[in-house]
Amino acid sequence: MILSANEATLAQAAQALCDGQLVGLPTETVYGLAANATDDAAVARIFVAKGRPADHPLIVHVASVDQVPLFAAQVPDFAHKLMQAFWPGPLTLILPRQAGVATASAGGQDSIGLRCPSHPVAQALLKACLALGVQGVSAPSANRFGRVSPTTAAHVQSELGPDLLILDGGDCAVGIESTIIDCTRGEPVLLRPGHITRTQIEKACGRTVLDKDAPQEVLGQPAPRASGTLESHYAPRAKVRLMSAHDIQAKLQALGPHANNLGLWSAERPASQEGVGAGVLWRQQANTAEQAAHDLFSVLRDLDARGVTQIWVQQPPDTPEWEGVRDRLQRAAA
Ligand code: TXA
Ligand code: MG
Repeated sequence: MILSANEATLAQAAQALCDGQLVGLPTETVYGLAANATDDAAVARIFVAKGRPADHPLIVHVASVDQVPLFAAQVPDFAHKLMQAFWPGPLTLILPRQAGVATASAGGQDSIGLRCPSHPVAQALLKACLALGVQGVSAPSANRFGRVSPTTAAHVQSELGPDLLILDGGDCAVGIESTIIDCTRGEPVLLRPGHITRTQIEKACGRTVLDKDAPQEVLGQPAPRASGTLESHYAPRAKVRLMSAHDIQAKLQALGPHANNLGLWSAERPASQEGVGAGVLWRQQANTAEQAAHDLFSVLRDLDARGVTQIWVQQPPDTPEWEGVRDRLQRAAA
């Protein structure tokens, strides 16, 4: 059931988490499926609900930096700087894990992903949880494994069914999942690009951000398993194809009135003789990375729900601020 967030429903949700139940949680990035991070049985229910393999680690959400030492065994200096610069906000840090803490959530890794979300409902819920002795809340995106992340409460309900208690916090401002930086290798390693760009990370901590695909001798050890880093992920049912604006126009012209069950996310509305209005459903791709990120998953979901068999997406610009959107699109198309 979807409950609009207020004092009473927040208290109800915090109690449900304390009792080992799952809650649909709004954050500034996407909606999460939350459980008490230190309750292994509750966390196990997340994996079942999502259909996610149990060895894929979850992110633990905390109310503030004060909870970090409960979960992280040590915090390198550059990670402190990143928390100071970007928390609360859409940044997840992978840190060495405190032995014996949040074992199920960590999926067997000796590291832990920590994030302090800025969404007021997430903040209020985490504080209410703290008051009940719940120190952190594990929450992957509230979608079935491998599918598009939800950015509204209704999306969560359509993924996970009517029985789940979902706090409605409106539609998510950022729209794509948090930037993930691995802080366990001596240097920051970008595991998942997001709203906070590598340029911003480098500025804030004064280090060069390494790529997760960097050579082994640079990284030191193999990258940890991260489902958000699997090649095929964030996939709608329709087949997604990334194309240049020029190719889209040429192919639409070639198809003419034969274009059918086609979704199109591009900057310019195609001319009517190219089939739009009949077989082509067009959605405008915004010209800023922020707005495009905000729209991305809901556009894919909406076109999917309308039964298109293909979604053609105009390839976004090759600049740093678009890295998060490019990453999600490449994986939706894989
Ligand atoms: O914005 C977000 O991060 C959203 C909202 C709900 O906070 N959450 C999210 O969770 O995207 P999820 O589970 O869908 O993606 C978390 C990513 C996964 O790729 C996971 O493997 C990785 O974080 N991760 C978590 N803990 C990790 C660890 N210890 N080592 C490496 N990767 C980790
Ligand atoms: Mg996810």
